[in-house]
Amino acid sequence: MESSRLLVEGGRKIEGEIRVHGAKNSVLPILAATLLCGIRHTNSGNAGISRTRTGEAGISVIHNTASLSDAFAAMRILRSLGCEISREGSTVTVCSANAEGDIVSDGLMHEMRSSIVFLGAILGRVGRCRLSFPGGCELGPRPIDLHLEALRRLGVKITEGHGILDCTAGVRPLSADITLSLPSVGATENIMLYSAVGSGETVIRNAAREPEISDLAGYLIKCGAKISGQGTSTLVIDGVPELHGCEYSVMPDRIEAATYMGAAAITRGELMLTGVRPADMYSCMSVFSEMGCGVYPYDDKIFISARKPISAVRTVRTMPYPGFPTDCQPIVMAVLSKSQGTSVIVENIFENRFMAAPELRRMGANIKAEGKVAVIEGVKTLYGAPVRAHDLRAGAALVVAALGAEGQTEISNVHYIDRGYESIETALSSVGADLRRI
Ligand code: EPZ
Repeated sequence: MESSRLLVEGGRKIEGEIRVHGAKNSVLPILAATLLCGIRHTNSGNAGISRTRTGEAGISVIHNTASLSDAFAAMRILRSLGCEISREGSTVTVCSANAEGDIVSDGLMHEMRSSIVFLGAILGRVGRCRLSFPGGCELGPRPIDLHLEALRRLGVKITEGHGILDCTAGVRPLSADITLSLPSVGATENIMLYSAVGSGETVIRNAAREPEISDLAGYLIKCGAKISGQGTSTLVIDGVPELHGCEYSVMPDRIEAATYMGAAAITRGELMLTGVRPADMYSCMSVFSEMGCGVYPYDDKIFISARKPISAVRTVRTMPYPGFPTDCQPIVMAVLSKSQGTSVIVENIFENRFMAAPELRRMGANIKAEGKVAVIEGVKTLYGAPVRAHDLRAGAALVVAALGAEGQTEISNVHYIDRGYESIETALSSVGADLRRI
């Protein structure tokens, strides 16, 4: 599918104010979690668990949801499972009362691999689930071994064959103590979703600590779940017989915020970000400060000023939260491409996340990327060129580079960018960028 393209005239300072949208990586698991509302689990002894629907209790109102293709894909999955969904601006209302689907279609799984987070929610609601193995993606194979191993520890029977996962909930252990070999965000979310409803205590050690995990926990707790330890490496989930829907507001998108900080930095501009949560962004903010930007967080705002030339930074290492987030790595690579000095980036999370490098080189960047390490020798000028987005954040990095380049850049495959940014051209044009979609 030939998606639209972005035409960017570089060299304009970014100056003004942008309100950041709700987080993509939080709204996806929260939408999956709405499935858990409105069913009552009763333990009927050896007959296993009976699940009875409790009608009205299945309605959730989710505020601050961004208009992203990934969010729309998640809503299509919910509809395919029998949920009723309505959207009013950034508020999405989900009624899961009549949802009894247990299959996520192949098409929907391939459209968005993070649909795997529906597995725990569907199992929690109806006790069985069939979905195709999520494909790898541009970032690498994206295995789900930790998800499956943990669900098996929770009594789920999983057979894999011909690319299909066939899962059936069994009798849950009264208590499970699961240690993840790495703090996987998705695996932590799937375990939280599956163990929220039902009986039994689940402990997750080496759990992911990302703010999106705490946001999912916040939603589930408001629905009646018993969860503690969110934001730390040890999560404890005490299963409850039933969750009711609730009204909840999604946390701000820290990666979108960092992207716009990158745009201000590379154009030597000034930007006020509102509707953000600085507490989620210390590792990002410190890298921009190290580059020589003035970064002033306060309340739900961050003010960034880049009046001085951007200087190279010491090594940037991507790490699980609270370390520097891998999703911001391509953005920072773009900004450092036009800086004074040489910087090193070490990508520790994904195998193949330097997809922006070859495209940035077409714009005159001097980047050597090999394995997990990229060496960026800052250049004085980047030049507009026709470039291609290969994945969501690499695409966003090209937009940032194009804003700081001389001349015109045409970015194709913009559908990747639309997965994680609500009309990026509107946001950036509102603060001085000359950027339009064709
Ligand atoms: C989430 O992906 C985010 N996606 C990603 O954002 C983000 O980059 C990533 O977390 C890390 O922060 C969503 O939340 C929808 P992981 P996820 O499981 O859950 C390996 C973006 O741009 N792993 O923490 O898939 C895996 O291969 C996207 O918004 C296993 O080996 O991330 C990777 O190397 C991109 N086995 C590492 O762990 C498993 O079972 C981190 O993966 C699971 C993961």
